[in-house]
Amino acid sequence: MESLQVEEDATRAVRAEPRTWTPIKVAVAVGVVIFSLVFSVFLVVSGIVRGGGGNPPPHDEVCQDLPYSSVPVPAIKVGFAEPVGDWEACPVPTRSPRRDFPNEMCRRYRVPLDYSQGLVAGNITVTVKRSHAAKESDGQLWMMGGGPGSPSYSELGSISSPGKVDYTLDHRGTGWSTLLDCPKVRKQPGNLPWGNSWMKWVGLGNVSAETVDACLAEISEDIGAPKHFTAANAARDLASIIMAIQAETGSTADVGIHGFSYGTVWARRFLELQGQEFPVIVSHVGIDGVCSGDYDYGQYALMANSAGRRLLDEYCDADCRGKLGAPATGSLAAWFGRAVKEIDKAITDGSEGFCAKYLWERFAKSSALSGWTAKASIKEALGAIGYLHVTYGSKAMTEFVAFVLSLRRCVRDTAATTIPSDFWAVAHRIDLSVRVATRYLETYPSSFDAILHHIVGFGDMWKGPPELRAWGVKDARHGSCSLESWRHFFDEEVFWAPDFVTLMSRYQDVFNKYGYRENSALVHGSGRPWSNVTVLVTNGDLDGQTPLRFARAAFEALPTCKAKVELPTGRHCVSTDSCLQKVVNAFYGSPASSCPSGWVNPASSSDLGQALEAFDSGNCSAKKVETWTGLLPVDDCGREHSSSGCDKSFGAGGDGVCDMCFAKCVELLDKANVPNSRCVCASEAARCGARGNCTAGGFAFCSKEASHAGCDNEDELCQDPALVVA
Ligand SMILES: *[C@@H]1O[C@H](CO)[C@@H](O)[C@H](O)[C@H]1NC(C)=O
Ligand SMILES: *[C@@H]1O[C@H](CO)[C@@H](O)[C@H](O)[C@H]1NC(C)=O
Ligand SMILES: *[C@@H]1O[C@H](CO)[C@@H](O)[C@H](O)[C@H]1NC(C)=O
Ligand SMILES: *[C@@H]1O[C@H](CO)[C@@H](O)[C@H](O)[C@H]1NC(C)=O
Ligand SMILES: *[C@@H]1O[C@H](CO)[C@@H](O)[C@H](O)[C@H]1NC(C)=O
Repeated sequence: MESLQVEEDATRAVRAEPRTWTPIKVAVAVGVVIFSLVFSVFLVVSGIVRGGGGNPPPHDEVCQDLPYSSVPVPAIKVGFAEPVGDWEACPVPTRSPRRDFPNEMCRRYRVPLDYSQGLVAGNITVTVKRSHAAKESDGQLWMMGGGPGSPSYSELGSISSPGKVDYTLDHRGTGWSTLLDCPKVRKQPGNLPWGNSWMKWVGLGNVSAETVDACLAEISEDIGAPKHFTAANAARDLASIIMAIQAETGSTADVGIHGFSYGTVWARRFLELQGQEFPVIVSHVGIDGVCSGDYDYGQYALMANSAGRRLLDEYCDADCRGKLGAPATGSLAAWFGRAVKEIDKAITDGSEGFCAKYLWERFAKSSALSGWTAKASIKEALGAIGYLHVTYGSKAMTEFVAFVLSLRRCVRDTAATTIPSDFWAVAHRIDLSVRVATRYLETYPSSFDAILHHIVGFGDMWKGPPELRAWGVKDARHGSCSLESWRHFFDEEVFWAPDFVTLMSRYQDVFNKYGYRENSALVHGSGRPWSNVTVLVTNGDLDGQTPLRFARAAFEALPTCKAKVELPTGRHCVSTDSCLQKVVNAFYGSPASSCPSGWVNPASSSDLGQALEAFDSGNCSAKKVETWTGLLPVDDCGREHSSSGCDKSFGAGGDGVCDMCFAKCVELLDKANVPNSRCVCASEAARCGARGNCTAGGFAFCSKEASHAGCDNEDELCQDPALVVA
């Protein structure tokens, strides 16, 4: 942290310098000074450590965050983007999540790969989508998608404002803009273990660093150097297009931009460059699900974990504790962590019941291969499932809690020959989770760009393993950033996420080779104190991807007129929630500044001020988690909790005994590699009272004799071909 401070101040000074030198001189001369400055600080620090009495014990290790670049941003003047052709039908008609625009159109623009070099040195295209044709009096409202790696087009009109045309720009490298992909490497058999699509979002699976290297080499050759696909360049793209549209329509009406999640990094770069590299063209900036200057992916597992902790410690009252069977006092989050550890230990120690086996075979065993975890471990696989539930918000999070506690009860149920009554619901939840995890690989294969995600991730939002003290860990024994100390902490304390740090670290070197490290001042900047710019910060308090602390930090750092709304129980990105509608509408409908001159808080008499007050005094500011249900429902006799077609219990008189339930039972046990699955299911049916002649094929597996036979009578019970399950 020391050296970051030095580095930041120095580069700030550089940027404030009048730009009388040529860019190259600035870059070289100052670059050398800064480099030696930082380097000498680093030497001094290491000197002190070494000088401090021989080899320091490991717990005194001083770690250095991976520093951002101290090379100054070259002097750039952003001009108008050059349209490629006219507005036309979009590449693929899409349904926007919140409304459809029958007259939506798309247009491509040519932008420089590298703004310091201009178009002739290399250029790419980016695609803009708009809701309808613009008149001179129309303003602009831009939605900026997240990821990094998600295109923006599907966000068109997520928020609208009267008198403004809705626009989106696909971030360079994503969607309908020049897409970062390496089809030759990707399609070569063996490079990607699960077909020819990348693991989305979280990691690249167990793709080798060599494959990623080859991919980035292909991109460098066929598209352009990956290091130009930065958040800052995406902000320049947006500015050049806003100006081009204004020039074309002759409009000087208000412009707003609205970033979701990583789109807030994109928007913050815009704020930082606005008034520097291009005029102050945007007066309303919404940032929702906020990444502040201190946000980085090293903390990603901690973020999801903090949302889980908050859910348990803040939103589960005495009644809820009762439903969960939790102790009346003490940290519920800690208690929950012990439940996860108990499950992990039971399975690791080999006391495998049906539930444990099912989780292992269905997900945990292959989760490292598929990119969900760094190693095949029950605890980490549960963490991956927990993370997925966090992304879906508080209701899903309560379901995860119920799932884990039911799983523990099931694991404790060690009567090995009969199927535990928790099995059916637990297996169903595992199936659902596996389906969600698989969807990350399979759905919308082109809409998320995993390569861009990692390039920007490593360039703009990565400092290595996290600084644990900032998260209140007093005993961060190996210093702030060692992978080893992180892993120790992760194993002990993180239950709502897989080990994202290890997952990402695997690719750090190769992305640094082709990618970039963004200028430190730019990474931490939040713009300048323009009197005609207002920023609205919105965040959910159960956001596990961009927790509240970052929204608060970003808000503090903003030098302009600003407002903030925190939505209790809100998940990641809340600005489209009905609770925030009035505030958001008032914000984009308000004049350039709602703040009295010289103030950074909106006047309470302004429309925005009124809307904020209404939020604070309304029921949205007192939302509770209403979905605690206790543990998952149990059925001794196998009632299915899914829409699988089997809604009958095993048991006397149920048709399900003979077809769907039996088939489903066998299918589930086969997936868990339980031996003699048909015998187990047949005797289970018999135990539950199924008797007599089955309607399906007349197989007497549930006859009176069978009920006593169990699996001992395997041959008679289980070898009727009619019952072979596909
Ligand atoms: C775009 O880049 C190519 C080289 O990649 C160059 O030939 C072309 O002239 C550039 N376009 C413009 C408008 O400068
Ligand atoms: C991926 O995982 C499989 C199974 O664990 C392993 O055999 C393979 O070597 C791994 N591939 C890479 C590139 O790590
Ligand atoms: C905002 O103010 C700056 C100077 O303070 C001015 O140059 C710019 O044109 C203004 N922008 C808008 C959109 O009003
Ligand atoms: C708040 O109250 C209004 C009207 O009483 C109701 O329609 C709305 O659903 C409530 N919202 C919440 C979050 O409870
Ligand atoms: C059992 O049912 C099948 C048809 O479902 C029938 O053919 C067979 O005769 C029945 N057996 C007995 C013992 O009732």
